[in-house]
Amino acid sequence: MKLAVLKETAQGERRVAATPETVRKFVALGATMAVEAGAGLAASIADSDYEAAGASVAARGEALGGADALLGVQGPDPAALAGAKAGALIVATLDPFRQRERVDAYAAAGLEALALEFMPRITRAQSMDVLSSQANLAGYKAVLDAAAEYGRAFPMMMTAAGTIPAARVFVMGVGVAGLQAIATARRLGAIVSATDVRPETREQIESLGAKAVFAEGLAAVGAGGYAAELTDEQKAQQAELVSGHIAKQDIVITTALIPGRPAPRLISDAQVASMRPGSVIVDLAVEQGGNVEGSVAGEMAERHGVRIVGHRNVPSRLAADASALYARNVYNFLSAFWDKEAGRVVLPDDDEIVRGVRLTQGGQVVSERLKG
Ligand code: NAI
Repeated sequence: MKLAVLKETAQGERRVAATPETVRKFVALGATMAVEAGAGLAASIADSDYEAAGASVAARGEALGGADALLGVQGPDPAALAGAKAGALIVATLDPFRQRERVDAYAAAGLEALALEFMPRITRAQSMDVLSSQANLAGYKAVLDAAAEYGRAFPMMMTAAGTIPAARVFVMGVGVAGLQAIATARRLGAIVSATDVRPETREQIESLGAKAVFAEGLAAVGAGGYAAELTDEQKAQQAELVSGHIAKQDIVITTALIPGRPAPRLISDAQVASMRPGSVIVDLAVEQGGNVEGSVAGEMAERHGVRIVGHRNVPSRLAADASALYARNVYNFLSAFWDKEAGRVVLPDDDEIVRGVRLTQGGQVVSERLKG
């Protein structure tokens, strides 16, 4: 089985879907590895490192030629995949809800698209979960980005010239990114509080030494361990809670997402105005529509003297680590379905993981989540 590792073409994407470590492991399974020239450069991996691990390095056309699977971070442009075998797998994060036309094009080209962000949240799939591996790094980086913009220190400092108070950090949305943001802000010495709509996060927040800030009785739990959208009444309840708390915060990190829906609006312009000048908000959901009124994807906005940080693709800002974890997720996924006798990946139709990630097969869109 030939696996081709694509060089990412999306603007600002620095990650790569395989590392020399995973190339070596795939080769040990019996795979033939072809890496597109320059694929790892932005993640500090030289072509020669891939060659040393047992891959061939070539221009796209040659790397794709006869490939049975194409490994990417973001979904490749369907127009640039000529040469891949009919039925070849595309293994990447495909953003299926927003990139529906691409998914249709993969189907029309006879490619079998596997969307890694649709990996079910089950124990067996934890080591394959790209949303977790990338969100964890994003949560960490969000705190560093906030600290870099904040004109004050995070920890309390008692100096001969007087005492500097500790920064107050509020994390909204305590999934994988939020938990890492809490832990990172605590390590930097901030006083941390956090909120979510899933009640089980209260204990997780407290176990990290932060204060849980919850509206009485508010809960919105959806399928698969994710949150559900709040009703209008619940939104009003949450807004009241946030208004009372946010004015006393120096840093706010928002991470709230709802699968298949725009990101919920958690902070209004009036609430931004209630914060003191020099405060910083980092909106990790900015690309999904934003949790914060006034945040702009790819920009540093400023409202009422408050900086609103809206970096796109935050995991890519830690490209080497993000690639290492992503590449292991991809390896853990494909190797779990490696058929030794056939010498290739075999994806059983009745497997929960396969049913979760498979978008297209036999020229059709087959994912239940995309059907509706
Ligand atoms: P996510 O990225 O979908 O959302 C981030 C957070 O925002 C979630 O905690 C969500 O509850 C929260 N949120 C949504 N709407 C909100 C609102 N209006 N106000 C405040 N918060 C709001 O979530 P993520 O990080 O993907 O994690 C979801 C769950 O899945 C977590 O419980 C996590 O521990 C679990 N998980 C399970 C895995 C497994 O068993 N294989 C792997 C990874 C995560």
